[in-house]
Amino acid sequence: MRNQYRPTWLEVNLKHVYENYRMMRDHIAPAQAIPVVKADAYGHGAKRVVRYFYERGVQFFAVSLLEEALELKEIAEDIDVLVMGAVHKEDFDVLSRHNILFTVTSRHLFDAAKQFAKPLRFHMKIDTGMHRLGFKDYSEALEVASEVQNISHLSMEGVYTHFATADCDEAYVKRQISLFESFLQSMPFQPQSVHVSNTSAIMKYENDFPYTTHARLGIAMYGASLEGDLFPLKTTYTLKSRIVEIKSLQKGDKLGYSITYEAKQNERIGVLPIGYADGMIRKNQGGYVTINNTRCEIVGRICMDQMFVRIEDDMRLGDEVVLMGEDPHIDEVARRLDTINYEVFCQIGKRVPRIYTE
Ligand SMILES: Cc1ncc(COP(=O)(O)O)c(C=O)c1O
Repeated sequence: MRNQYRPTWLEVNLKHVYENYRMMRDHIAPAQAIPVVKADAYGHGAKRVVRYFYERGVQFFAVSLLEEALELKEIAEDIDVLVMGAVHKEDFDVLSRHNILFTVTSRHLFDAAKQFAKPLRFHMKIDTGMHRLGFKDYSEALEVASEVQNISHLSMEGVYTHFATADCDEAYVKRQISLFESFLQSMPFQPQSVHVSNTSAIMKYENDFPYTTHARLGIAMYGASLEGDLFPLKTTYTLKSRIVEIKSLQKGDKLGYSITYEAKQNERIGVLPIGYADGMIRKNQGGYVTINNTRCEIVGRICMDQMFVRIEDDMRLGDEVVLMGEDPHIDEVARRLDTINYEVFCQIGKRVPRIYTE
């Protein structure tokens, strides 16, 4: 039975995701890479990505939400997941029952965990300059580290921090590193897991940190990174559609809502069944797609479910269209939209089915 009627889909190449992971893992060995699969694995589909990795022996993942962790636990109980976002004391029961690692970011949360009678496992987060989550007061964090050793139901398995500028400001990274290192030196014990790097830091700095055991790998695994030129990352994410209607415009004919486009000569226009409700936001107008390896301009206003491209004479109904992937690359689309590749990955909505290839 068909379960997809509209010819618009997102092709996810799981093998490429895994190969990108392996390349970065090998680069930082003996430290290990924790695949970051929050936000549905940056739009790729967390369950499919994690299952693929799990079948190849990877067991430790990081997410942002407890909901995301629970979804991964459905794949296999022995998958270990770290929730990096905020949790509440009301969540302790679920965290304990499912044996999920969470992040202690404050004295307040730790005190609540102390009161909770059942086993809890966590990593402690230190704020070294991002000023989002984590202990800013290191004496408080050190008190927690020393108290936890005498509390049998609490297991502090890691300590970490997060860089604010790994992609853009080395001096600020260095300040964060030095704060983290002096904190580590004051710790009453070394937890089994110490991690600081995201993708940019993995590529540029990780091998200078002899004390880390892990790094948190996100965007490079998905084939995009500001420092992508340093490593031959493979494309994992290709948004595709097909021409479902062709219109011949005469010179001077106008097109679409608000008639923002006028044919400069006799032109052919292809209609694509994808629009801003799918994540192809209106700001993409003026960008390009590729059809049969030829770039075609996105013209006219993008509608909720449809959009227009100016096509060549040899293009036909049903021709395959690449809206992002190798060309245009996700970084190119991000520049077009005046944003970052992370946001582009997360923009493609659930209405677009993910088709998995290897
Ligand atoms: C705390 C934390 N660690 C790691 C990552 C992964 O970052 P990246 O995708 O740059 O590798 C993120 C993502 O934003 C994050 O929030």
